[in-house]
Amino acid sequence: MLSLKFWIRLGLLTVVWGAAVPGRAPVDEERMHPHLPTSPRLRTISGEETQEFWHSASKKLIREKLEFVRNTKKAKNIILFLGDGMGLATLAAARSYIGGEELKLSFEEFPFTGLSKTYSVDKIVPDSACTSTSYLCGVKANYGTIGVNAHVKRGDCAAMANETNHVFSLGKWAMDAGKAAGLVTTTRVTHASPSGVYAHVADREWENNAVLEEACGELSDGLQDIAVQLIHGEVGSKLKVMLGGGKRSFYSPEHYDKGRRTDGRNLVEEFEALDAGNTFVKTQKKLLNVNATETGRLLGLFSKSHMHYHLEQLADPDNNEPTLEEMTQKAIEVLETEEQGYFLFVEGGKIDISHHETMARIALDETAELSKAVKKAREMTNPEETLIVVTSDHSHTFSVSGYQPRGSDIFGAAKANGKDGKPYLALSYANGKSFQDYYNTETHERVDPTSLPTIGDFDQLFPAMVPLESETHGGEDVGVFASGPWAHLFTGVYEQNTIPHMMAFAACVGDGLTACD
Ligand SMILES: *[C@@H]1O[C@H](CO)[C@@H](O)[C@H](O)[C@H]1NC(C)=O
Ligand SMILES: *[C@@H]1O[C@H](CO)[C@@H](O)[C@H](O)[C@H]1NC(C)=O
Ligand SMILES: [Zn+2]
Repeated sequence: MLSLKFWIRLGLLTVVWGAAVPGRAPVDEERMHPHLPTSPRLRTISGEETQEFWHSASKKLIREKLEFVRNTKKAKNIILFLGDGMGLATLAAARSYIGGEELKLSFEEFPFTGLSKTYSVDKIVPDSACTSTSYLCGVKANYGTIGVNAHVKRGDCAAMANETNHVFSLGKWAMDAGKAAGLVTTTRVTHASPSGVYAHVADREWENNAVLEEACGELSDGLQDIAVQLIHGEVGSKLKVMLGGGKRSFYSPEHYDKGRRTDGRNLVEEFEALDAGNTFVKTQKKLLNVNATETGRLLGLFSKSHMHYHLEQLADPDNNEPTLEEMTQKAIEVLETEEQGYFLFVEGGKIDISHHETMARIALDETAELSKAVKKAREMTNPEETLIVVTSDHSHTFSVSGYQPRGSDIFGAAKANGKDGKPYLALSYANGKSFQDYYNTETHERVDPTSLPTIGDFDQLFPAMVPLESETHGGEDVGVFASGPWAHLFTGVYEQNTIPHMMAFAACVGDGLTACD
């Protein structure tokens, strides 16, 4: 017997087929691509009206590509920039934010780009923990785990204790080859992305002993939390630069910085006691004053939890946190003193956090901050010997809707109305906590978004279709942008875990394939 599903499918097929047959009523073009009331472009780029403009810009690009000489030298230095949650829609909207659709973020000027497939071993849409294992350790793993293979399920204390399950990062491969390594982040230094450089845990939340012991009980004997692994671990204890937020996992509650450790340890003092050259800083001023040639290892913790959003730092006259660009600059200054070169990981971690909150304006600003940090790194290093790769761990449910006139405020209304007669915003999310702000649960109608009192605020929430406490990640591919030795390897569509192998190839580190074989 044919099922109901079959008949419904057949029915749909007939409708689609019918629409394509000449002489039948055409698909409603007007509905799909409406003639909006003419609203002039707000900004005109001189020449865009002519063919000549587009032809000559295209010629210029082709000539640049023809003149480009592939660099097949061994990379002395390798830098990986990670825009956490920085999907392609975020990049497109960020161009409007920094001044216009025709502009590019610094790393969009890089000569080679590719697409990275981000799924994990157990989930179609991954998180920042398993993706960190992927783009740093070269192995896909399970959601929520860091620096361990997929034999370890999230929260499996016994499997975490089994060292045969541990996988190591490009940071270790570089250090084993005599290079230095460092990390920079705007989140806690023990948060998911930076932890991939040095930690092995079955759960990203085990940042200090209190959470680890609560989860593993008796099994926690012999296991180390992420902060301990940063200061004393096989990889963490050798890192030359560690900059970011997250003091709370280094201290106990009695300490004046009020930590969350319950074992009475002060990991910052332990770090300082390890070696006379070890330097700890906790303010922007102290960081900027660090003399790179006189510093051994550098630990900077600038906030209790994640560092503040750049827009919050700007608004706070007492701000004493450095920017991502400043941290990147100091990290390179310190690492440059190493004769054999270095690996540096830099994370713009608050793109993701603001997207989870549906705070699109902040997400685009944090993306612009990452762009500045990359620009600084490219200026400070020689593209002949330093490979820079910029990518993201995963996307978000963030979307850029039509059809605003060119030059419009990207945060504004789309200059069209919904079927309910109300305007809608160009930027929105498929889910998130802002649902209730934009939906009147009594009248079951959408709220006119332009009537909200928060419109224009830097922390304004953008609309979401499904009510969720925290907006989710998105599953489409993310971009990879490369410049320097072997950058041409990064073209095409590939699995995310290939990235560190290609960087290792370029730098001749690790025990996989290398350019020096
Ligand atoms: C450790 O894990 C591996 C699989 O990754 C397994 O073969 C081995 O038996 C485990 N060892 C212990 C002591 O559980
Ligand atoms: C850093 O220290 C070196 C060595 O002591 C010194 O020569 C240099 O002038 C210092 N740089 C700055 C900017 O103070
Ligand atoms: Zn996230």
